[in-house]
Amino acid sequence: MKLDHVGIAVKNIDETLTIYKKLMSFQETRTEVATQKAKVALIPVGEITLELLEPTSEDSAIGKFIAERGEGLHHIAFEVEDIEAAMEEFRAKGFRFLYEKPAPGKFGSRVNFMHPKETGRILIELTQHG
Ligand code: CO
Repeated sequence: MKLDHVGIAVKNIDETLTIYKKLMSFQETRTEVATQKAKVALIPVGEITLELLEPTSEDSAIGKFIAERGEGLHHIAFEVEDIEAAMEEFRAKGFRFLYEKPAPGKFGSRVNFMHPKETGRILIELTQHG
């Protein structure tokens, strides 16, 4: 597995981009993940990406996260070649996942999240690129 991206929950993508543009120069990519009710901006940083996530609804996972804990680090994501095989392997080791099956992610990727109780309270995403 390799680190793919770091997910950051934000109230307003444009305001957060203003901060990062003071730190470095980049061209962000924007998209929206309807199933996660989130707007997304991707900031390339070397081989990984910062994934800014702005909720489009207060009852989304990101919306609830911000309401409870404020803006900030939301998850880290590892790339896997075969997400079903990875889920089977990790379930056999006692890890739980938030979704029974992989969910659609950005740009045709398939993702799932490991339950933070078993991962030292860090939400870990597995992502298989589309
Ligand atoms: Co992510």
